[in-house]
Amino acid sequence: MRTIDWVDGAIELIDQTLLPEECVTLRVTTVDELVDAIRRLAVRGAPALGVAGALGVVLAGDDPALIARLRAARPTAVNLAWGVDRAAAHLGEGREAVLAAALRLRDDDIAACRAMGERGADLLESSLPSRGGLRIMTVCNTGGLAAVERGTALGVAQTLHERGRLAEVLALETRPLLQGARLTTWELARMGAPHRLVADSAGPYLLARGEVDAVLIGADRIAANGDTANKIGSYALALGAARAGVPFVVVAPESTIDPATPTGERIEIEDRGPEEIVTIRGVRLAPEGTPALNPAFDVTPHDLVTAIVTEARVIRP
Ligand code: MRU
Repeated sequence: MRTIDWVDGAIELIDQTLLPEECVTLRVTTVDELVDAIRRLAVRGAPALGVAGALGVVLAGDDPALIARLRAARPTAVNLAWGVDRAAAHLGEGREAVLAAALRLRDDDIAACRAMGERGADLLESSLPSRGGLRIMTVCNTGGLAAVERGTALGVAQTLHERGRLAEVLALETRPLLQGARLTTWELARMGAPHRLVADSAGPYLLARGEVDAVLIGADRIAANGDTANKIGSYALALGAARAGVPFVVVAPESTIDPATPTGERIEIEDRGPEEIVTIRGVRLAPEGTPALNPAFDVTPHDLVTAIVTEARVIRP
């Protein structure tokens, strides 16, 4: 299964807003359609956004206004702008060269996720006591749906499962948009990997109760000092993990490290507006007119990060 690809002159992507009920492929032929798909999270997750951005440049051609719109469709994941820039660097060589560059990014992502899975699983197996298998906690969705074929943090869990070393994944629901409940559980079931879904607020308590060997998260942007922006709720897990003495490991491709952003304070955090908080999938929870705050990401300071695993190395911030 590929989350996103270039097929017969257009971008095809799995519409993640419809999962887990329906797995529908969306065909995208214009930048407007792609920006809409990115904003409503039909395609999401930092690595997938990088590939979407690069393929989007093929649709944009050398129209600077379209490229700027695409680049800014979501602000926090650096991979989107990175993917756009990587493909746009070939605009002078013609459309075929842009497409070739975008397809290289797609292929590199597949290889990078496989390498991260192996390196992350090696790290956990070598540093944690070997019992029946490892108990992993994660938030949001960092599986194949967030990349092209295999994921980052969930890719490590997948590799552990393939090695027979995964006891279970505790997946946090991930309010407000429920990427954990809707997408991560769907992927883990397809892998045949043992898992249980838990409420976001149960995460730190389950860490304190000794039910987790390692927390694995992905990243949307890693500042030069290791501060890590990821889905809202990651910081609470990092605090809980530090208190419980549980390793907190970030798994992300090198392209998510942003040397131009010195510290986490400089990362722009997307606020997605009140509607996603006062409703769940169209059902109103709060009284009409309730004000709400909706930061989609948070920043975990580097001193709470045990290790950052990329396709090339293990960094200890
Ligand atoms: O708002 P989303 O669903 O795009 O947020 C995704 C995340 O926060 C992921 O953890 C991150 O992009 C890494 S995906 C491998």
